[in-house]
Amino acid sequence: MADITESPEWSALADHQAALAGRHLRELFADDPGRADRMTVTAGDLYLDYSKHRATADTVRLLVALAERAGLRGRIDAMFAGEHINVSEDRAVLHTALRLPPSEALAVDGQDVAGDVHAVLDKMADFAGRVRAGEWTGYTGKTITTVVNIGIGGSDLGPAMAYEALRDYADAGISCRFVSNIDPADIVGKLADLDPERTLFVVASKTFGTLETLTNAKAARRWLVDRLGADEAVSRHFVAVSTNAERVADFGIDTANMFGFWDWVGGRYSFDGAIGLSLMIAIGGEAFREMLAGFREIDEHFRSAPFEANMPVLMGLLGVWYTDFFGAQTRAVLPYSQRLARFPAYLQQLTMESNGKSVRADGAPVVAQTGEIFWGEPGTNGQHAFYQLLHQGTRLVPADFIGFAEPFAEPALDGAADGGAGMHDLLTANLLAQTSALAFGKTAEEIAAEGTPAAVVPHKVMPGNRPTSTILVPKLTPKTLGSLVALYEHIVFVEGTIWGIDSFDQWGVELGKVMAMDLAPALTSAEPPSQAPDPSTAALVRRYRELRGR
Ligand code: F6P
Repeated sequence: MADITESPEWSALADHQAALAGRHLRELFADDPGRADRMTVTAGDLYLDYSKHRATADTVRLLVALAERAGLRGRIDAMFAGEHINVSEDRAVLHTALRLPPSEALAVDGQDVAGDVHAVLDKMADFAGRVRAGEWTGYTGKTITTVVNIGIGGSDLGPAMAYEALRDYADAGISCRFVSNIDPADIVGKLADLDPERTLFVVASKTFGTLETLTNAKAARRWLVDRLGADEAVSRHFVAVSTNAERVADFGIDTANMFGFWDWVGGRYSFDGAIGLSLMIAIGGEAFREMLAGFREIDEHFRSAPFEANMPVLMGLLGVWYTDFFGAQTRAVLPYSQRLARFPAYLQQLTMESNGKSVRADGAPVVAQTGEIFWGEPGTNGQHAFYQLLHQGTRLVPADFIGFAEPFAEPALDGAADGGAGMHDLLTANLLAQTSALAFGKTAEEIAAEGTPAAVVPHKVMPGNRPTSTILVPKLTPKTLGSLVALYEHIVFVEGTIWGIDSFDQWGVELGKVMAMDLAPALTSAEPPSQAPDPSTAALVRRYRELRGR
């Protein structure tokens, strides 16, 4: 694999950065006010304004040239065609097939991928429909009112984030809860007030071998059987989502009540398939399919739009621009929607498990910084917490602001019915104010002119020149949520392609899992803790045992 940093396109970008680094967004806008209209892209329902970036038309041209040098077009085609681009696991990467329209055929490695995907979606929709209609009942004949999804990582964050985002669409009187942590506080707290007769557990695990999930699922089974007094109750209250039918059967769940997927769907790319079962039960099969249509719209845009007008490509390339040419370490994602409270956490797995790599796909060390650190909180809460650093700190933190034109709240509650700015308008005003303040800041002269004492002026200077994307969406719906998620999935892909890494494996999580299993006996046995892997850990094991009286 060629070293991308040795390419003329990389050097051209480095030179360009040197020329642009000293220029302020105030100047860029003064020189070219038309950039506000020009540096925008529409993809389906998503509208991106990227004019508040430390970039010009030349930057975009040079970044697109870099993408071409990295072979992005061919990589996109290879992913959609099902080539084994997950090289370390020798697998296709086909999450895009989870939202194929029924009319489109796709066969890969001898598998009728499209047929299989739709068969599972139909089975999910049938089951979800029966639960929603009260035809699927619990062991004692009562209807289900709560679905508890037990899973972790991609088998939790996706459906949990999406359920929270779309809870206003949960129209069958069924709510969802999500248990993930092996900390017993999680499951105990989530089950405390539930009626076992009306609770359905969805045990979601791609491998069905994950310690946290299996431990929680066993605890849930004990909870249910204790309360309903019969082992036979399990088959009415437990279903599974997995790629591993054998382990599902071993656990004691009837594989007739298992919803499958395939090794070509990464866990963190999976909630638009069977892993989204709990969500589908809450919002219904039709709304779930609308969500898939939103994913698909961005897939098609990603596949066909020219790079300079391609939203995921531009946002991915800007991520590379700040990471590798400006030395930025992190990217904030700031949804101005309380419903998207879990979106940053979801993106953390999607982006950081995908691109947190220090070897390339060919096994050689990477040649540039990889893996942006994603973090964030919904606005306006973040404004009263960490935005101080965004505005006046020493670090450059590019940020994605996500806003919605239409609110959920009843107009009367929102205040808009009174004629003035409602709560949602105030929310949006805050988003716009923040991106403007971050870009343009406030100079010492402007502050002094307001009569601020000279000694205080430096403290009040707002440097500006802090780059942001603004994504404006008509309304948070199943469809637009699907589009937003697909956007970030493809951003990850673009960045991974430039960095030359395999964005679809996650070997770095394995060692800790094995060591935890090795260490567990040392915490409980009466023997001296010989299993500890190092002196510091051995001392901590001793201390833990003392504290637990062992
Ligand atoms: O440990 C990381 C991981 O493998 C993730 O990639 C995955 O989403 C999560 O664990 C859960 O895995 P599973 O769905 O197999 O239980």
